[in-house]
Amino acid sequence: MIKPAHAYIRAVGAYVPPKRVTNDELAKTVDTSDDWIRSHTGIGARHLADSDTATSDLAVGAVKDLFRRHGIRKEEIGAIVLATATQDFPGFPATACVIQDKLGLSVIPAFDIAAGCTGFIYAVEVARGLVSNGTVPSVLVIGAEKLSAVTDWSDRNTCVLFGDGAGCVLVEASGESDGKIVDSVLHAEGSGSNYLCIPKGGTNTTNGLANTGKGDKLHMDGRSVYNFAVRVLGEVVDELLSRNQLTIEDIDWIVPHQANSRIISAAAKRLKIDQDKFFMNIEDYANTSAASIPIALREMEEEGLLKRGQRIMTIGFGAGLTYGGNLIQW
Ligand code: UT7
Repeated sequence: MIKPAHAYIRAVGAYVPPKRVTNDELAKTVDTSDDWIRSHTGIGARHLADSDTATSDLAVGAVKDLFRRHGIRKEEIGAIVLATATQDFPGFPATACVIQDKLGLSVIPAFDIAAGCTGFIYAVEVARGLVSNGTVPSVLVIGAEKLSAVTDWSDRNTCVLFGDGAGCVLVEASGESDGKIVDSVLHAEGSGSNYLCIPKGGTNTTNGLANTGKGDKLHMDGRSVYNFAVRVLGEVVDELLSRNQLTIEDIDWIVPHQANSRIISAAAKRLKIDQDKFFMNIEDYANTSAASIPIALREMEEEGLLKRGQRIMTIGFGAGLTYGGNLIQW
């Protein structure tokens, strides 16, 4: 039995497919414009996977990046937890099991978490529990999405918003000089499940939305999700601060789910927090759902913005409707 410990984030990695589609390119196939997309969302481009690439391939790309950057061997992985809304197979098997096989690993636990764009937040907290209880020595937490596969490319209300990609972190037992995952808050408001869903293809055959638009593609009530997101982003910041007796000055970075720069600006204004405390990279990647926060962490680390000892907050919100945040001492 391994002695229980704290857990910290030892390493990060990310991968996006090479094909980059700008707003202007998208405007050739759907009635939209670079001006509308930028002014309403902050998005400039997105990366899209080709038809032969599955979510597990994007995830493996991110894990290989983590291995390469941090000199980590696959034998050091104790479990795989994947946050995704776009599994390789509908229902089962878990895509985490496919990733385990593609990495050449075996018998370590591997499972998926379905918490929409909040999936990475939920997965980090699950990993903290597994590691600090001594169940496994480390957990590879991955957020990976091939949203282009569930996007209705004729619906301008949604198709301009999303992109494909993957990011991951290695959560491990921490020693004296390491950081730690300090706390998490996790929430869900299931009454809003119809606001952001794929109406058709599951066991619920009586869903009234099944015959709207392309029922097997992503459906979103943008305005309702927008209002929800601005509200809960602020609530999570306040809850994490008060539970941990901190003020906003104690936080070095807030890393929000990258859904829309206007959501982040509105929440910052409401919270009276300087917008520069929020890391944003939505311009280059669009909304990659569960992958957006680890992709952001990877970029921040690469740019030298993350330093050991800093306090950061990750905040997620999305389908479920789920929301939550992690307080991390880097
Ligand atoms: O990751 C999960 C969480 N998801 C989110 O957080 C998304 C939350 N929602 C949003 O970010 C925003 O609601 C959107 C970006 C989706 C939409 O922005 P909006 O300011 O709420 O626009 P709207 O839906 O109220 O539409 C305004 C107008 C409409 O035209 P009319 O009816 O006023 O003539 C739309 O038809 O903009 C039109 N429109 C577009 N025009 C050009 C909608 N999409 C487009 C488009 N290009 N792509």
